[in-house]
Order: sequence, then structure tokens, then C-alpha cells
Amino acid sequence: MSRSNILRLAPSILSADFSRLGDEVRAIERSGADMVHFDVMDNHYVPNLSIGPLVCEAIRPHVHIPIDVHLMAEPVDALIPMFVKAGADIITFHPEASKHVDRSLSMIQDMGCKAGLVLNPATSVHCIDHVMNKLDIILLMSVNPGFGGQQFIVSTLAKLRTLRQKIEVYRQTGGQPIWLEVDGGIKINNIHDVVHAGADTCVIGSAVFGAPDEDGGYCNVMQALRSAVEGF
Ligand code: DX5
Ligand code: ZN
Repeated sequence: MSRSNILRLAPSILSADFSRLGDEVRAIERSGADMVHFDVMDNHYVPNLSIGPLVCEAIRPHVHIPIDVHLMAEPVDALIPMFVKAGADIITFHPEASKHVDRSLSMIQDMGCKAGLVLNPATSVHCIDHVMNKLDIILLMSVNPGFGGQQFIVSTLAKLRTLRQKIEVYRQTGGQPIWLEVDGGIKINNIHDVVHAGADTCVIGSAVFGAPDEDGGYCNVMQALRSAVEGF
């Protein structure tokens, strides 16, 4: 297997300047982002409150790249059509936030989006076993969800290797491609380890938006992130 040319970077706008979100998403697209990561928090599933479908709809015309909606909310089924209508391309949710995981995944796919499950640091990798055929993407949390700017949990790497192996075994038996995304605490100094352990898609919040955008700051960080995995 060769994944050497696959690295999708998904800046999380949770760390962006919300007073100028249109400019911010255009800047990250210009800097080479592969998608916009859109963190939805409901002050119920996680102890924080962020953005919803209205904001998704507002940024949609500003970028061409996919919008990757990460639902940290429960329940999820009523939110799915709202985000589809607002222009989402990918919708992921946490399995414990849906009473019927299979049905929620189908609903997302039937509405034309890629669907995925999100595994918290304490969620067993076995939660994907009986829905592999409904997954376009698996999102592995490398921090506990709820806040940007947290420290990467190193034990994620072993879990990531396990998930990569599960996906490869599934592929060899004729299964569809499944992206493997990691979210939380990814920086220039650890992205190599994350990709080496099996990720093909990395969410980066504070490491990108913490850089000043003048003089191409976002471009420099994005380039540095890609360079850090070069040769992998
Ligand atoms: C955490 C969010 C992440 C977070 C990433 O609940 O899902 O997307 O904003 O931000 P950093 O890269 O700062 O950890
Ligand atoms: Zn996220």
C-alpha cells in the first residue's frame, strides 16, 4: 500500500477570527487547504457552544473546497438535513450521540454527503465494526472534544495504527475506500508521527489560525506541515 501522496489538510475554523470569517476561509483555501473543518458544539454533548448551519451557509459561497462538518452535538438526525441544505460535503458524528448509528449514516449518504463516525480518545475502535459499509470517513479524536488548542494525546497513535490496519483489511476484502482523519493538537512537530501512524487527513486549528496571515502566514504554516511529512 502506498499512501505517500495522500495528505489532506483540514483547517478548523474554530480557531479563526469569527469577525471576518469570509476572509479567513478564503485565506485558508488560498494557502492550500483541502477542506474546511467545521466544528459544531451544542453545550450538551460537549461543554462548549460554537456554530451552526447558518454560519455554514454563510461561508459556503466563499470557498470551493469541501466543508467537513464535525457534529459534537446530540441528537444528530434533525441537524443532518440542515447542514446538507447549508452546503456541507462531509458530515461526521459521535456514535454515542445517535440512537441509531446506521440510520444516521444512511441519512447523510442518501442526502449526497460523505458520512463518518468520530471516535473519542476513550471510544473503542470496535464501534465501527458493524457499519464499515456505511463509512466514507473515520475521524479519530486526539484530544477530548470541546475546545481548540489542547495537547495531543500520544496514545492516539497506537489507536490510529489499529484503525489503519482495519481499513486496509476491509479494503483487501473488496470494501470501499474510507478516509482516516485525526483531530486535535496537531502541529508541525507531530504531524509526521500522525501521518506515519496511518492518517490521510489532518485537522489543524490553532497551529494554522494562530499564525498571522499577513505575509502569507497561513501559506507558510501549511507548507511547513506538508514539508514535515515529506518523504513519508
Ligand atoms: C476539538 C475540535 C477540533 C479543534 C482542533 O473539539 O474538534 O477540531 O478545534 O483544534 P486544535 O488543532 O487547536 O487542537
Ligand atoms: Zn473537529
